[in-house]
Amino acid sequence: MRSYYCGELRQQHIGETVTLYGWVDRRRDHGGVIFIDLRDRAGVVQIVSDPQRTPDSYEQANALRNEYVVEIVGKVTQRPPESLNTRLPTGEVEIYATEIKQLNAVRRQLPFQISSGENENIREDVRLRYRYLDLRRERMAQNLQLRHQVIKAMRRFLEDQENFIEVETPVLTRSTPEGARDYVLPSRTNPGEWYAMPQSPQLFKQLLMVSGCDRYYQLARCFRDEDLRADRQPEFTQLDIEMSFMSMEEIIDLNERLVSHIFKTVKNIDLPHPFPRLTYAEAMERYGSDKPDTRYGLELVNVSDIVKGSGFKVFADAVNKGGIVKILPIPEGNDVISNVRIKPGGDLFKEASEVGAKGLAYIRVRDNNEIDTIGAIKDNLSEEQKQEILRRTNAKPGHLLLFAAADTSTVNKTLDRLRQVVAKEFGLIPEDKINLLWVTDFPMFEWNADEKRLEALHHPFTAPHPDDLQDFKTARAQAYDLVFNGFEVGGGSRRIYQRDIQEQVFEAIGLSPEEAQNKFGFLLEAFEYGTPPHGGIAYGVDRLVMLLAKEESIRDVIAFPKTQQARCLLTEAPSDVDIKQLKELHVQSTYKPKTAE
Ligand code: AMO
Repeated sequence: MRSYYCGELRQQHIGETVTLYGWVDRRRDHGGVIFIDLRDRAGVVQIVSDPQRTPDSYEQANALRNEYVVEIVGKVTQRPPESLNTRLPTGEVEIYATEIKQLNAVRRQLPFQISSGENENIREDVRLRYRYLDLRRERMAQNLQLRHQVIKAMRRFLEDQENFIEVETPVLTRSTPEGARDYVLPSRTNPGEWYAMPQSPQLFKQLLMVSGCDRYYQLARCFRDEDLRADRQPEFTQLDIEMSFMSMEEIIDLNERLVSHIFKTVKNIDLPHPFPRLTYAEAMERYGSDKPDTRYGLELVNVSDIVKGSGFKVFADAVNKGGIVKILPIPEGNDVISNVRIKPGGDLFKEASEVGAKGLAYIRVRDNNEIDTIGAIKDNLSEEQKQEILRRTNAKPGHLLLFAAADTSTVNKTLDRLRQVVAKEFGLIPEDKINLLWVTDFPMFEWNADEKRLEALHHPFTAPHPDDLQDFKTARAQAYDLVFNGFEVGGGSRRIYQRDIQEQVFEAIGLSPEEAQNKFGFLLEAFEYGTPPHGGIAYGVDRLVMLLAKEESIRDVIAFPKTQQARCLLTEAPSDVDIKQLKELHVQSTYKPKTAE
C-alpha cells in the first residue's frame, strides 16, 4: 500500500517507514552511495541506498536507470545540513531504502530527458509523438493539474453556489453556424446523409431554455475545421452556459463572480469588481482590435479629419473613399526603428502588408520638435496640419508616428498588429499584470466583402439591442466578449426568442425563408411554444488555462492536442480507412494522391 505520494513528504514524516511508488527521475552514484530521485505526480523525493546502512536494497538500487518503475520501502530521515535542498519542497528529508522492487524497466532509448531542469528545448513533434512521456515532465504535469483545478472551480461555483445543472448535448448533430467549417460524418443507416459535429452546443442550450431548464452548463467539446493558430485547436473545450429570465447586467455580474471565483481558487488572486468595459467602437478606435491587450498604452490616434483635405493623395483618398487615417505613436521610437524597417523589405513593412496594408508613412519628431518625414508627407501636409497631428498624438522629441491609411478594417488590423509587435520589442508588456475586460455593444453584422453579404458578427441567434430595432443592419447586438490580456477567452449574448425577429435576422444575412426553414425550422418552431428570454456565454477553457499557466500555446494545456495540420502525432490520426468501411457508409473518395514522378 502506498503511504504517501513522493512529493508530499516533509519534516513531519521523519521516523516513519513508508512505501512509495514512482519513476526514477535521476540516479546518481556518489562513491558507493546511490541517490535516486523518485518521482510521481506530486513531485520528487530523494532515496538513498548505501551498502553499509541499507545493504538489502543496494543491489537493486545499483541496477536502476532513468524512468524505471519502482516500489520503495524505507525510512524518512532528516537530511544532513550540507545536503538540504531548499529548492525542493521535499528537500529537508530523504528516504533510506530498506527494500527496492523494480516493477518495470525501460527497454528503449528515451527520446528525451524527462527529469525537470533538463533541456526544455525538445522539438514539439517529438514531444507530441511521445506525449505520454512528455506529460511526465513537471511543467506538463503541472499544466494538467491546473486545468483540473480550473474546471473544478467552475463546477463548484456553478453547481454549488448558483444552482446550475450540467446537461450533455449531442455530438452527432446538424451544423451550428459559428463561422468555421464543419467536421462531418457520413451516416451508415441514412445513405447519403451526414451529421455535422457541433461547433458549439448553441442551439441545444437554447432549446434547453425552452424546456424550462433555467440554468444550464456543460464542459462541452466543440469541433471547428478552421486554420489553426497557437490559440486554436480543431477540437477544444468550452465552458458553455445558458440562463433564462436574466438581463445582460445580471448575466455579466454572475460571470464576473464566476471568473473571480476561478482566479481566487486557483491563483489566490482577487480581481477588481466590476471588470472594466469597453464598447466595440471604443476598442476599435483606441486599439484597432475587439480584443485589445490593455496592459500597455500605445493607443492609436485617428487623424482622418486633419488630413482629409490635404494634398497628400494617399491620405485624402483613403478618407474620401470612406476609410480612415490613424497613427500609432511610438515614444522613443526614432532611435530603435530605422527607415529600413518601415520601407518595403523591412520587417515592420512585412507585418503591415501581411494584414493588407500597402505601405506605412511616418513622421519622426526630432530634438527641437522638428519634423522629419518622407517626401510626400513633408511636401503635402501644411505646417498647421503637422502641428495639429503632434498635438493630438501628444508627440514629444524622439517619437515615431506610424501612419496607416486605407479602409477602416485594414487600418485597424495593421496598427493592431504593429502595436503588438512594438510592445513586445520595447518590453512594454508587464507580464504579471492581469487585465480582464468586457467588450460590449458589438454590431449585429459585418460586411463580408468576398460573399457580398452581411454576416453575423457573433452568431445569428444574438439579440439586437432594444434601442436599435428599427434597422437591424446597423443595430448593436446584446453581446459581450471577455478579453484576457489580449485574448478572447469568452463570448456570449442575450438571444433572440421571438420567431419574427429571428426570421428577420436570417433574412438580413441572406438566408431565404426556405433555407431558414430547412436549416433552423426546429428552432423557429420551438420559439412558438413559450420561449423565455434567455442568454449565455461560452468560455474557451483551453485558452483560459493557457493564460493562467503562462503558456504560449494551447497545445501545452491539452493532454493530447493536434498539430497545426490537425494531426495527432501519437495515434497518427487522421488515417486511412478500409474500403469496406467506406462502402458501408456509401462514401467514395474524390481525392487523387499525387503520383510520384
Ligand atoms: P465563440 O465562437 O466565441 O462562441 O466561442 C467561445 C470561446 O471559445 C473559444 N474558442 C476556441 N478555443 C480554442 N480553439 C478554437 N478553435 C476556438 N474557437 C473558439 C474562445 C471563444 O471566446 N456559442 C457561442 C457562445 C455563446 O454565444 O454562448 C460560441 O461558441 O475562447
